[in-house]
Amino acid sequence: MKKVRKAIFPVGGLGTRFLPATKAMPKEMLPVVDKPLIQYAVEEAAAAGIEEFIFVTGRGKTSIEDHFDHSFELESMLKDRGNNNALDDLSGLVRAPGSICYLRQQEPLGLGHAVWCARHLINDEPFAVLSADDFILSDQPCLKQMVEAYDDGNMVAVTNVPQQNVSRYGILDVDRDEGNKVWAKGVVEKPPVDKAPSNVAIIGRYVLLPEIFTHLERQERGAGGEIQLTDAFIPMIGKYPFVGYRFKGRRFDCGSKEGLLAANLNVAFKRDDLKQSVTQEIQALYDEISEHSQNVKIKGA
Ligand code: UTP
Repeated sequence: MKKVRKAIFPVGGLGTRFLPATKAMPKEMLPVVDKPLIQYAVEEAAAAGIEEFIFVTGRGKTSIEDHFDHSFELESMLKDRGNNNALDDLSGLVRAPGSICYLRQQEPLGLGHAVWCARHLINDEPFAVLSADDFILSDQPCLKQMVEAYDDGNMVAVTNVPQQNVSRYGILDVDRDEGNKVWAKGVVEKPPVDKAPSNVAIIGRYVLLPEIFTHLERQERGAGGEIQLTDAFIPMIGKYPFVGYRFKGRRFDCGSKEGLLAANLNVAFKRDDLKQSVTQEIQALYDEISEHSQNVKIKGA
């Protein structure tokens, strides 16, 4: 079996749900505490053994390139000031020369289109795709879990979602559920709640066969008028295994405001330098809410 060496990071989306914050700044640069989402995704890929990092970018995304490059002025200023902690935080951001590349998706036509844009950079080998806005807190990095469990075909990270939320996701038509591996006989992107074949939802981590490019090549528009990655799985099902991997960990949808807020709270709560102040803040909010709900009760009585 060929090793998974390359990862695609689709970062060409518009991030409209975070406007105005994302008017002049990429959604993938939004921070969870003090690190941008895209940095967590790159670190996760590196921990899974990825050697080549391919970013599919778009207009207004150049700060992502700058983030993973040297900033000589800043570095020398920090050195002069003896700020070694900050210097440490920057070390490791710059990867080996030639291991990172950026290409432009000229139009944000969908996730499937973004992945297809990188087709000439993937050879005859399975490759990973990571959506930075799916942020995963876990003991073992999610992609590492997947790469270790992968043996053939297309593998997607999955999680069970509440039935009322199925229309936000690609949903598996389950053939066999073995706990951490779910074998699918079909998949449907953003089905209406009453038509969803299950509540097993795909989230943004994939290990894919390069044959997917042949199907993405057709440029067919799916749900929301976008070229969907999910639709390209369908003609491959039956020919190759199509496996959902139930990773261990908690996923936050950082493409939504609620998800990003929850991720920030959870990460801050786990950090020694922030735990106390976060706890105090939550306690203060809790007191305010309790007082408020008492007032509401009194008023309503
Ligand atoms: P989303 O579906 O969340 O879309 O993309 P979006 O445009 O970023 O955000 P909203 O919905 O307008 O708020 C999931 C991932 O796929 C990338 C995004 O950058 C994000 O990392 N993507 C999406 C692309 O690279 N190109 C696209 O055409 C669409």
